[in-house]
Order: sequence, then structure tokens, then C-alpha cells
Amino acid sequence: MSMIVAGVMSGTSADGINVAVVRLSVGTARASRPSPHENQHLDFTLLGHEEYPFPAQVRRAILALMNAELARVADLARLNFLLGELYAEAVAKTARKHRVKLDLVGCHGQTLYHQGTAERFLGRKLAVTWQTGEGAVIAARLGVPVVSDFRPADMAAGGKGAPLVPFLDYFFYRDPRVARIAQNIGGIANLTAIPAGASLGQVVAFDTGPGNMVIDALMEELYGRRYDRDGKVAASGRVLTAVIARLLRAPFFRQKPPRTAGREEFGREYLARFLQLCRGASKSDVVATATALTARSIADAVERFVMPRLAARRQPASCQMIVSGGGAKNSTLIGLLRDQMAPLGVSLHFSDEFGLPAGAKEAVAFALLAHETWHRRPSNVPAATGAKRAAILGKISYA
Ligand SMILES: Nc1ncnc2c1ncn2[C@@H]1O[C@H](COP(=O)(O)OP(=O)(O)O)[C@@H](O)[C@H]1O
Ligand SMILES: [Mg+2]
Repeated sequence: MSMIVAGVMSGTSADGINVAVVRLSVGTARASRPSPHENQHLDFTLLGHEEYPFPAQVRRAILALMNAELARVADLARLNFLLGELYAEAVAKTARKHRVKLDLVGCHGQTLYHQGTAERFLGRKLAVTWQTGEGAVIAARLGVPVVSDFRPADMAAGGKGAPLVPFLDYFFYRDPRVARIAQNIGGIANLTAIPAGASLGQVVAFDTGPGNMVIDALMEELYGRRYDRDGKVAASGRVLTAVIARLLRAPFFRQKPPRTAGREEFGREYLARFLQLCRGASKSDVVATATALTARSIADAVERFVMPRLAARRQPASCQMIVSGGGAKNSTLIGLLRDQMAPLGVSLHFSDEFGLPAGAKEAVAFALLAHETWHRRPSNVPAATGAKRAAILGKISYA
């Protein structure tokens, strides 16, 4: 049976809503790819994808409500319903534009808070997460069932609730002969390493650190702009290497995977410290340094945590990195990353080459995850999240 599924993603950048529409059909002998599940095939076609920036006031509200000290409960409740409406509109527009009739929606929602590692609270150790954007509203507006709130089921099973995209990465990129690293550069940067011939249990995935988050915050602070388009500002500055060396000594970068990061690690407070370390430097040098921090932290993570595992499995000497996310459009960042990866024998590619446009990939992932949930199949990757078992992810709102 074939299903048309829309995946909806709005990431930690809070820049906007990405919608991807895919057709998935299960189980034909001539299907194009084996599904991550044993003995199963999935036919996949990307029918279209669109991006809708958040209106400036909505973005401001989201960023303000991620700030635990400032957030008011009434406004959080309102945001949940407002985002439900905005997600529904984004999906409806996309479906109209590409002339498709949807069967199902998978919506990640907007993360307001994520603490993947258990910490003590009122006498109990708890790992917690919170994504907002009401699935019931989306289902009612669109008249199709919606799977939302994917992360808690993995956490209830002992996982960190992230990353969830490795299920898609494995589906798309696994190869009997080539080792691949799927590197997404959103607000946070995260990778999925898939050794050649790996099983789902041999996938390594974790957050490498900041993606665009620090760059964006600096652009806002120093230039009053949302982001460094094409990396132009960074290209005109010099990298403060001493600052990079200092920042890379932070415990986060030494932490072994699985590990996750968010605004809690690389948000407001981090920005203040970053600016402090860069004091006296020109504005473009500061942005160039943040851009280099992203590239360097990715390369460091690959060298420390990925290469040794590939070597242990006697993988071929060469390996591909496949970049996706908004950061793929920052040419200065990509140039730095290419330079950093070359000595490791890793060649750089874009997810577009593999049929997944850089801006659509994460949205596609949530379409796939929703599809699995609808068929009562698990889609967390315990090797990536640290969960004790496979879990069926998300909650279903019926139309
Ligand atoms: N043309 C571009 N040049 C440079 N950076 C870009 C460009 N387009 C998008 N970006 C960056 O990508 C970010 C959004 O990436 P995205 O993958 O949507 O992240 P998230 O999943 O965190 O929302 C923007 O905030 C911006 O920093
Ligand atoms: Mg985004």
C-alpha cells in the first residue's frame, strides 16, 4: 500500500518551517531500497518540499519562550496552538502547490527544552524534553491523522530522545562498500556515521556541537541580520585561532557519544562568553571565528569518535561526508569543512546528490518516522540515542 506523507520540521534555529511531501510504499519485491527493518522494502519518492520562514514576531516569541526564566505558562500554551495553526497552513500550502492529497503528517514540532541526560529533580533522576505545536490542531485543519511528539517514547525507553534522523540516514546512505557520514548543519550540527556494510546497531550518531546557532546569534547581535548569507561576512574576516583552541577545550567537545546539544549549551550564555573571548576583534573576525568553530568541532568529532571506529572495522581508507541543513548554503563554512576533512581522507558531498535536498532532509525524516509509527513499527535507533530497546515513536491525533 502506498501512502503520501508530509514531514514537518522546525529546528533549533527557529528560522521557519520545512515541509517535505513523500510517497512511501511498503513491501514490493522490486522496491528501490531495503527499509531499515529486516526483510522489508520501502519505495521512496520525494514529491516536493517547501520552506516558510517564521514571521519576525513569531520567531522572537519562540526564542523568548525557550528562555526558561522569561517564559510564561499562558504564552507557552498559546504558542502550542499557534504553531499548530502555522504548521497546518504550511502543509496545506505545500500540498496545494504540489497537487497532492495527503494520507498522513509527521510533525516534529518546535523544541522548547531538551535535556537528554537524566538529572535529579524532586528526588528522581529524569531526562526530559518538550516539543510544542499541537498535533490535534494540525489534524483538524488538514483532515488527516498526524503523528507528533516523537522524542518522549525513546526517552521513556532510556534513550536521550535524539538524534532521530539516523533512521533516515541509514535508510538512504548505507552502502556495502562506502563508509558515510551524514552531517546535518542546522542550529546544532549532528552526524550519523554508517560504516560500510553496517547493521542498524552499528550506526554512530551524535551532536557535534554548534551548527549555525552561534553564527546566527552573532549576526543578529553585531549586524542586526538573521544569518550570514552564503558566509560572506565570515569570508571577509580572520579566524581567531587562539579563541577556537580555548573553546574546543570545553567539556562538551570531549564528551563521548551519545551526546546531544541545544540552546541550553550553545544559546544566550554561550554567546556572551564567545563575545567576551573575542573582545577587541572586528565584527567580521568574530563571525569568521564562529564559522570556524563549527567546522573545527565537526572535524574534531569525526577524528576522535568516528575514524577510530572505522579503523577498528577495517573500513576502506576513504569515506564520504554528506552535508545537509541550512549550513550547507554557507560557502565559507563548507570551504573550511572541506579543508578540515581532506587530511582525514573524507570527501565532501551534499545530500542533494543523493536525492535529498539540503533543506528538506530533516522534514523527510519525520515523514518516514510517521509512516513507521502508523504501521506500528519502531524507528528510534538505540545505537544512536542510547535507548535500551526499539520504540514506536510519537503520538497520533486522528482527524
Ligand atoms: N543562504 C544561506 N547562507 C548561509 N546560511 C544559511 C543560508 N540559508 C540558511 N542558512 C543557515 O541555516 C539556518 C537554518 O538551517 P536549518 O537546517 O533550517 O536549521 P534548524 O533545523 O536548526 O532550523 C539559518 O538559520 C542560517 O543560519
Ligand atoms: Mg530550520
